[in-house]
Amino acid sequence: MAEISENKITLKAPDDFHIHLRQAPGLAEYARLTAEAGFARAMVMPNTLPPVTEPAGMAAYKEEIQNAAGPGFTPLMTFKLMPGMTAAQVRALADAGAVAGKYYPAGATTNSSDGLTHWELCADAMGEMERLGMVFSIHGEDPAGPALQREQLFLPRFREMAAAFPELKMVFEHISSAEGTEMVRELPDNVAATVTIHHLLLTQEDILGGALAPHLFCRPLPKSDRDRRAIQDFVLTGSPKVFFGSDSAPHLKEKKECASGAAGIFTSPVALPLLIDFFEEKGRLDLLEAFVSEKGAAFYGLEENTCTVSFVKESWTVPAEYAGVVPFMAEKKLNWRPACVGA
Ligand code: NCD
Ligand code: ZN
Repeated sequence: MAEISENKITLKAPDDFHIHLRQAPGLAEYARLTAEAGFARAMVMPNTLPPVTEPAGMAAYKEEIQNAAGPGFTPLMTFKLMPGMTAAQVRALADAGAVAGKYYPAGATTNSSDGLTHWELCADAMGEMERLGMVFSIHGEDPAGPALQREQLFLPRFREMAAAFPELKMVFEHISSAEGTEMVRELPDNVAATVTIHHLLLTQEDILGGALAPHLFCRPLPKSDRDRRAIQDFVLTGSPKVFFGSDSAPHLKEKKECASGAAGIFTSPVALPLLIDFFEEKGRLDLLEAFVSEKGAAFYGLEENTCTVSFVKESWTVPAEYAGVVPFMAEKKLNWRPACVGA
C-alpha cells in the first residue's frame, strides 16, 4: 500500500512498460538515469540498429543494460516482429525471457522501415504469442495517413487483429486519441493501453502553436484537448486496462534541432515527479501506485516489485541536458523528487 503524506510519498517501486534505452555510447547513461529516477523495471523497446529479433542478440542487449543500470534494476526484454517470423522463432525468444513482441507498421516511427506493411505477415508469430500468453505490443499508427490522423486510421487494423486472435494479450502503446482510447475501453480485458506522461500533459498546440518545439516532437503526435481529456479520463477511471509506459525516447540534441528532426521525447528523469503532480492536481493520488506499480505487472503476469521508492516534495530544476539530450521540462522547476530506494 502506498504511504501518502503531504510531503512524502512511498510506493511499491514503479515499472515503465515502454522505454527506449538505445545503444552504446548513450545506453549506459539512459539506463542509469532510469534506475535513478525510481524505476525498478522497464520494458525495453527493440528498435535498435540492428533490431532485437533473436535470442542471442536479446541476451547480449539485456546484459549490457543490466551492467549499466546495476543490480537494483531489471530490464524486461522485447523483440521486434518481422515479416515472416515463425512460431518457432517466437518460442525461442519466449524461452530466452522475452515478455513481449513489438509490432511496428513499416515506416511509422524511428527505425521502423523494416517493420510490417500488413499484420498478416506476422500472423504465425501472433498465433504462437496468443498460445503462450505473451504480450503483443503495438505502435498503432498508419504512416500513410495525415500526421494527426494516423492513430485513428490504424484502428480498423487493430480491430481485425483483435478479432483474428481473440485471446491475444494486446497493448495499444502510447495511446494518443479519443477514438483509440474509446476502442481500448470497449474491447475485452485482454486489450490494454499504455499512457505516457507527455500525452497526459501536451496537445499539438504545445508543439506547433507557438515557436516550433522540437523537443516535444514525438510519435504519435499529441493531439487536441479533446483527445488529451479522453486519455486523462481513462487513466482516472482506475481501469486495469490502462497503465504507465513512458515511451521515453532520447535523441541527441543535434538530431532534434536540425532540418530533419527525430521523433521522441526523453522523459525518464521527470516522468514520476510529473505523474505525482498530475494525480495530485486531480485529487486522485490514490490511483498513482496502481498506475505505475501494479496494473502493468498484472497485465504482463509479472510479480509486483518488492522494494519501495520514496518521493519528497522538494523543488528542483531539471537540467538543460543529460549527456547531450534535452529532457522533457528542461530547466523547469518540478515539485517532487525521488528520495531513497528502500528494502
Ligand atoms: C520512438 C523512438 O525514437 O525510438 N520515437 C517516438 O517518437 N516515440 C519510437 C516510438 O515509440 O515511436
Ligand atoms: Zn516508443
